[in-house]
Amino acid sequence: MENSDTVSVTQQLPPFTTKLKNFIIGTVSIVFGVTFLEYYFDSRAAIHKYFVTPVLRNVTDAETSHKFAIWVAKWGFCPKDRLSDDEKLAVRAWGKKFSNPIGLAAGFDKHGEAIDSLFDLGFAVINRYGFNSVGHKMVELQLRDRLRRYLYHSAKLHPRTTASLLTSSPDGASLSDALGINRSLKDDKLLGINLGKNKSSDPESVDDYVKGVKSLGPYADLLVINVSSPNTPGLRGLQRKDIFEKLLNEVIIARDSLSGSRPALLVKIAPDLSDDELDDIADAAMKSGVDGIIVSNTTISRPNSLYSDSSLASETGGLSGPPLKPLALKSLRKIYQRTNGELILVGCGGISNAKDALEYARAGATLVQLYTSFAYDGVGKVREIKDGILSELKDKKWTDVIGEQWKN
Ligand SMILES: Cc1cc2nc3c(=O)[nH]c(=O)nc-3n(C[C@H](O)[C@H](O)[C@H](O)COP(=O)(O)O)c2cc1C
Repeated sequence: MENSDTVSVTQQLPPFTTKLKNFIIGTVSIVFGVTFLEYYFDSRAAIHKYFVTPVLRNVTDAETSHKFAIWVAKWGFCPKDRLSDDEKLAVRAWGKKFSNPIGLAAGFDKHGEAIDSLFDLGFAVINRYGFNSVGHKMVELQLRDRLRRYLYHSAKLHPRTTASLLTSSPDGASLSDALGINRSLKDDKLLGINLGKNKSSDPESVDDYVKGVKSLGPYADLLVINVSSPNTPGLRGLQRKDIFEKLLNEVIIARDSLSGSRPALLVKIAPDLSDDELDDIADAAMKSGVDGIIVSNTTISRPNSLYSDSSLASETGGLSGPPLKPLALKSLRKIYQRTNGELILVGCGGISNAKDALEYARAGATLVQLYTSFAYDGVGKVREIKDGILSELKDKKWTDVIGEQWKN
């Protein structure tokens, strides 16, 4: 009897291995949970910068990391910038308010798959749609699908306003005009759509751009005519004076033919143009009535400041990141002077911190965009730069420093 009691007590106690297993599972769950919460709620995303990005870079190639990043963003697994932007960062352009001047440059989300998560990272402009994209039709479907999801969600909140819209399946223009909201479907943030042309099209033809304006214009707050990507043969030739003027005229006619409120139309240029070519671009842009210029795309040159072995440096393709900055800034200054500061300029090229962004603003950029530093340092980059700008600005506002270097 005594023996059997002892036996039953011993059976109720979990063996040491079970306790150890539970301890390990418990500890791992807590560590994982805390890490995930820190990852998800930290607007500067330190884990992303110091762990996720380096690991990805070491275990896989750039293209796979990029696809993975888009996948993560598409399903909303990346951290959000949960802090609201300080009013000192606000800026107005094309009749719209931006909560901050920092945008994601074109090419990151070529198919328009991760729009909302990218906005949640704190960018005020998202710029997308490049060359190895799924094409106008598919991107249009993605954008339409996004509208449907938005309407479905708002129908629960405002059934009266959205009921008729839900049945009519509107495009971006009719929906945003009816509800009085941006095409980005966000307050103080704008959606830019960047249009390129097909490799197989006649190099002198501007038809692809005209088609892009017509089919994707209704979904965009800004349309960007990209004549500066170095990887599409002949594309940069469209910056030649005569053909550039024709291109601008045709896309403006196409944009003006859109119903509803019209997206702003910008042109994105290369950083490799001579002073005379930049003057021609500036003059044509002013004459055409285009709404702004993005300076710049990647460079085909290989500046001396490039720390890389010669075999890598001689790879074909566009160079981005810090070595591009002096070229892009020089071009932006030239355009600003030629246009007497009358055209809205977007500075892009090698911006990786607040000082870089402010240098562009002082040179005349109303807004700035970045790509490479975001790709390298990860999702907390925007918050880091915004905080840095605020501390550099002291008691000034972003708008006070635009074009500051030319004043007095
Ligand atoms: C991988 C990659 C893809 C890009 N794709 C496009 C594109 O499709 N359209 C475009 O206008 N610019 C594209 N760009 C250029 C960027 O938008 C930006 O102008 C350029 O990289 C300079 O900014 P950064 O130094 O901050 O990267 C791409 C850049 C990179 C690095």
